[in-house]
Amino acid sequence: MKWLVTGGAGFIGSAFIRLALREGWAARVVNLDKLTYAGNLENLAEVQEDARYRFVHGDICDTALVARLLEEERPEAIVHFAAESHVDRSILGPAAFVETNVRGTFSLLEAARAAGVERFVHVSTDEVYGSIEEPHEADETWPLRPSSPYSASKAGSDLLALSYFATFRLPVIVTRASNNYGPYQFPEKLIPLMISNALEDKPLPIYGDGMQVRDWLYVEDHCRAIRAALEKGEPGEIYNIGGSRALPNRRVVEMILDILGKPYSLMQAVKDRPGHDRRYAITTEKLEKISGWRPAVPFEEGLERTIRWYQENAGWVARVKSGEYLRYYEQNYAGR
Ligand code: NAD
Ligand code: TYD
Repeated sequence: MKWLVTGGAGFIGSAFIRLALREGWAARVVNLDKLTYAGNLENLAEVQEDARYRFVHGDICDTALVARLLEEERPEAIVHFAAESHVDRSILGPAAFVETNVRGTFSLLEAARAAGVERFVHVSTDEVYGSIEEPHEADETWPLRPSSPYSASKAGSDLLALSYFATFRLPVIVTRASNNYGPYQFPEKLIPLMISNALEDKPLPIYGDGMQVRDWLYVEDHCRAIRAALEKGEPGEIYNIGGSRALPNRRVVEMILDILGKPYSLMQAVKDRPGHDRRYAITTEKLEKISGWRPAVPFEEGLERTIRWYQENAGWVARVKSGEYLRYYEQNYAGR
């Protein structure tokens, strides 16, 4: 099988490509990535010389480029990760989210339809369901109530992708995963931000009361679930992918501080995020039933591995936390 991966230089896409090549999931992987602030070819150093791998620098919104690439490579499947992915950035500037997540997905769907690809996995998020009241858990039929421009743009692209199955029989599969964590995650998201700030003894900004609940999924577990959905899923279906580990943010940050031996006084309550979802919770039985997939990495172990990776990769962190990152950090956190 030959796969086209979009957004493969980001956090989850690069983990997917590294695993796919390490474990021989595909005969060839082509990675189309625009290299935005979140795209980093250092994440793919392990595979860059691999004869089964090709990197193409480009924008998914460029339909002509995508059409040419599909014509040239004729992949059986597209695994679509490319997106603007951070909620806080979608509050500061939503335009790029509509452009890449909605229009970019549209452009890919059109090219995939013309090329007749056999599988189109649209990688989405549980945030499309919005905040879920205790004690409920959303299954795949739960209504979509996205709160942020990020999650609304993902919900829009989910519906567009599903319409290409209903209307054109493009074999689309939508996956909706919970919060990922692991090595190579850009330090704008909760876990890598808290680890890297704590390593520098900098304040750890906790939004509001810090009792918002997220369900944590180790990135490699997510990648294995995407493979399961790609190989065993039914076209036109949606599959939730949860980590089965719900925790309030404050508890996650305490666990990070405990592992690092740093004081809880580093935590600093700051003004809450507007439209902040209180709780995410999903069921994963549908994917488990068809594939036998289950999350394999317990949160404690995944967190230790992740923290060790950030400690051992100070150069990666320092390069990522310069330039654009500093401007973003100032814009999002100063005076909060
Ligand atoms: P990321 O921000 O780390 O990486 C996104 C990648 O997409 C980058 O390499 C970037 O250069 C590329 N990209 C952005 N715009 C592009 C464009 N127009 N054309 C081509 N490439 C472009 O994101 P991530 O955390 O790895 O998330 C990957 C996918 O998984 C996203 O679709 C996201 O919505 C979804 N998801 C993420 C999480 C999470 O916890 N991070 C959870 C569930 C679902
Ligand atoms: P985040 O990693 O941005 O993921 P998402 O908002 O997509 O779930 O945030 C996870 C949780 O952590 C969310 O409730 C917001 C909170 N958070 C903070 O309290 N402080 C921070 O600096 C960040 C980035 C997030």
